[in-house]
Amino acid sequence: MGSKFGIGSLSIVMISLLLSLAPKLEAELTTVEQAPKSDGSISFLVIGDWGRRGFYNQSQVALQMGRIGEKMDINFVVSTGDNIYDNGMKSIDDPAFQLSFTNIYTSPSLQKPWYIVLGNHDYRGDVEAQLSPFLRSMDSRWICMRSFIVDAEIAELFFVDTTPFVDAYFLNPQGQTYDWRGVSPRESYLQTILTDLDMGLRESRAKWKIVVGHHAIKSASIHGNTKELESLLLPILEANNVHLYVNGHDHCLQQISTSQSPIQFITSGGGSKAWRGYYNWKTPEDMKFFYDGQGFMSVKITRTEMGIVFYDVSGNILHKWDTSKMLYTDLEFPL
Ligand SMILES: *[C@@H]1O[C@H](CO)[C@@H](O)[C@H](O)[C@H]1NC(C)=O
Repeated sequence: MGSKFGIGSLSIVMISLLLSLAPKLEAELTTVEQAPKSDGSISFLVIGDWGRRGFYNQSQVALQMGRIGEKMDINFVVSTGDNIYDNGMKSIDDPAFQLSFTNIYTSPSLQKPWYIVLGNHDYRGDVEAQLSPFLRSMDSRWICMRSFIVDAEIAELFFVDTTPFVDAYFLNPQGQTYDWRGVSPRESYLQTILTDLDMGLRESRAKWKIVVGHHAIKSASIHGNTKELESLLLPILEANNVHLYVNGHDHCLQQISTSQSPIQFITSGGGSKAWRGYYNWKTPEDMKFFYDGQGFMSVKITRTEMGIVFYDVSGNILHKWDTSKMLYTDLEFPL
């Protein structure tokens, strides 16, 4: 009797232990399913650093996004953050939402899901307002979360909340206040992101993996490389065969790739105010493209190819890059 009791309670302990461990075996990031086109391909636009009530050429960029979006029959739009200037939204009723988003991106082709991360300026307002499902009830395109996954079958996009990684916002906020609700304790918040991202990337069966954050890992413009991301995020991306890391923060367009890393480092932060007039990059062979002005980027992905194109405020093509890969399954079963 005594030993039976002992075994019984031990197995209860073990079962509850297994149950408590079980959820951790799966990626904990929220996953949004995004249907691809009927041929399995996807295309989308990437814009960053934009919400200025149409000023600083935001409206002109929006118009061109509409034109290119129609031509490409895009599936969705990605925002790399700094969605509402100068200080995010004051509350869920802040008219900035309509003035900087709904009333600006009016083209029919842009009436698609917008997958949105937060930037540092968004954290200076009521950060939970931008995350609120209430915004979606006013404009169903708005899908903004801190860190999440968009699964488009052929490609998976991993959105990472990079603002809490930056030490300076905590140690030397320079008179700015940040709304850190939901972020503290900071150490465990960051560790959870890194663990979940690593797990999500590892489990991904997508042919193409893209990671999106607000802050650059590498940039030649005023903000430069984000050292916290270089040390904490980059090793995870490299270990998991990520193809693109896409960010905003610097108000420019750029593509960097180094001989030390297979990743393309892409900045699309030209959604409104630009022309910073700053450039500092030591290895010209790594700088594939840099443009200091307004614009945006498009991405087209098929089973074997990925192509990106950068556009200026008038919709002119500034730069193109593409890559293809011979997939193992294509070698086995040529079509
Ligand atoms: C807006 O774009 C035009 C080019 O179409 C440029 O001449 C002008 O300087 C830009 N305005 C701002 C505020 O950047």
